[in-house]
Amino acid sequence: MKLHQIKIIAGLSLLAFSGITLAQTSNTSAEKGKQAYVKNGCWQCHGFVGQGGIAGAKLAPDTKPIEYFQAFVRHTNGPMPPYSEKILSNQDLSDIHAYLKSIPKGPDYKTLPLLN
Ligand code: HEC
Repeated sequence: MKLHQIKIIAGLSLLAFSGITLAQTSNTSAEKGKQAYVKNGCWQCHGFVGQGGIAGAKLAPDTKPIEYFQAFVRHTNGPMPPYSEKILSNQDLSDIHAYLKSIPKGPDYKTLPLLN
């Protein structure tokens, strides 16, 4: 084996290794959360990007902390139905939270020439 081939293989294994540790430390997925958000019908009241204004509150941007989500979604007894762990797993709820947090803020209207 030539030296440059060894270097490439060493580099690739390092990449694979860091990929594994990354997957272990950040165990939420915004992409999966988006799917869970749609599958569990959150969008029906909160809108596809959590904008609110339909029947539910605004959930994004400025998403509240995960602890708040866990407490609220499991135990609410107001107009929103509570979701038990049987219906919505902790993993799905964390992913939904990651999805909502990944939604960017819209631009400030003051920066849009057309509106000024
Ligand atoms: C049937 C309509 C409906 C569905 C479906 C629904 N929600 Fe809600 N949600 C509401 C309403 C209405 C409120 C405001 C309720 C209140 O203040 O008691 C709310 C409030 C919330 C809040 C608290 C927001 C805040 O700022 O206090 C969170 C978090 C939330 N919903 C998450 C979810 C998630 C996650 C899902 C899907 C698993 C979901 N909701 C599905 C209607 C809904």
